[in-house]
Amino acid sequence: MKFIIETYGCQMNVADSEMISTIMENSGYELTDTLTDADIIMFNTCSVRQHAEDRVIGRISNEVARKISNKNLVIGVVGCMAQRLGKELGEMNAKIDFVVGVDNYFKLPEIIEELYNKRHFVTSVDMNHKEIYHDIYPIRSNELNAFVTIMRGCNNFCTYCIVPYVRGRERSRSVDEIIKEIKIAGEKGIKEVTLLGQNVNSYSWEGINFPKLLQKVNEVEGISRVRFVTSHPKDISDELIETMASCDKVCEHIHLPVQSGNNEILKVMNRNYTAEHYLDRISKLRSLIPNIAITTDVIAGFPGETEEQFQDTYNLMKEIRYDFAFMFKYSPRTGTKAAEFNNQVEEAVRLERLQRLIGLQTEITHEKYKEQIGQIKEVYVEGPSKKDENEYSGKSRDFKITIFPGDESLVGKLIKVKVKEAVGWTLKGHIVE
Ligand code: SAH
Ligand code: SF4
Ligand code: F3S
Repeated sequence: MKFIIETYGCQMNVADSEMISTIMENSGYELTDTLTDADIIMFNTCSVRQHAEDRVIGRISNEVARKISNKNLVIGVVGCMAQRLGKELGEMNAKIDFVVGVDNYFKLPEIIEELYNKRHFVTSVDMNHKEIYHDIYPIRSNELNAFVTIMRGCNNFCTYCIVPYVRGRERSRSVDEIIKEIKIAGEKGIKEVTLLGQNVNSYSWEGINFPKLLQKVNEVEGISRVRFVTSHPKDISDELIETMASCDKVCEHIHLPVQSGNNEILKVMNRNYTAEHYLDRISKLRSLIPNIAITTDVIAGFPGETEEQFQDTYNLMKEIRYDFAFMFKYSPRTGTKAAEFNNQVEEAVRLERLQRLIGLQTEITHEKYKEQIGQIKEVYVEGPSKKDENEYSGKSRDFKITIFPGDESLVGKLIKVKVKEAVGWTLKGHIVE
């Protein structure tokens, strides 16, 4: 029997889909990448903003129509929205066969088998709060990059965020399992690894903290590049910055979500740092790692945000000059504290502020990319560029898409490219080595 997984949301879901594939294949199911061949379609969903949920609900409605011609088709929902809504999803759409939450992926083969026998709706959304996924070495859907989960869950409870409710409490995986998983990737020829967690800086396993783990990962043979997401500004220590600077494989990029540049808003968000602290971390990073690329997440129109408070965010972004930013308008999530606040900012104002941030950041990104012209970048070649088949594409260590004339034989190799121009969010150049 064949299955397919459509993945939404963050890298954590990408890694989970690989893990689900392994669990399914170990039970005799076969992964396919063609929807029309699949006997089982799973949607691995995200709940972080209403828009993320609406999109996938739309997709599910489209796919259930297939059941008219294929009576045996099984459709399931997994991931964060499955965890949040549980059996409500089955009530919303009676064509959904199962809903399985983030701590129950082990049960998937059993649940699907049961479905084939009995054909009734199944939900499994109990939460565990401890690490339960041991000894699964995932099938890589992407042969070039290994996304390795080092911790799950979150204890921070930022007041806008649904993640702690759908992902449960923070728990770290053992050092041995993480290193084993990375060694396997290295032996397969995968050169780049990304360590994943909602807050990687809280990693802790038998006295090994995140900087120490990073040092161990840096030593794994075969791997040439190490990345990690996401870092929390309150937890990014001098030790971590020094470790990043001294480990040769750790790439010159950090994703450090700021959310807001105003101290009162940061406080109501429960972020536990000030704008001054954040700026101090940025200057430490830039002084020890001069070419570091810095990216961020920002929210416009958090409840109670005044125009002046918004200006603080705008000015902070202008001062820091991020290489890139993910910008969102605040989306109330049922169950979170901020959704209950009675000073919600009007939708139109949220949108207008978001657009101002996007306008500013687009300009800064263009300037920053133009500054790269003339530089020689190490590029990890991923494949042909989408626009022109004679052009190949890859990422630099500082996480910039770089394209150049090339051919298939370069895929998976590290090459040097001299940058000639910057077009939007892409660098263009030619191979010098
Ligand atoms: N653990 C990570 C990622 C969390 S989700 C972190 O702490 O940074 C990714 C981003 O989505 C967040 O950084 C935040 O900017 C955004 N986000 C989360 N909840 C949101 C909400 N309710 N409305 C708008 N954006 C939100
Ligand atoms: Fe959400 Fe905050 Fe946890 Fe990130 S740190 S996942 S934003 S609660
Ligand atoms: Fe979304 Fe869940 Fe990730 S809510 S952002 S897929 S942890």
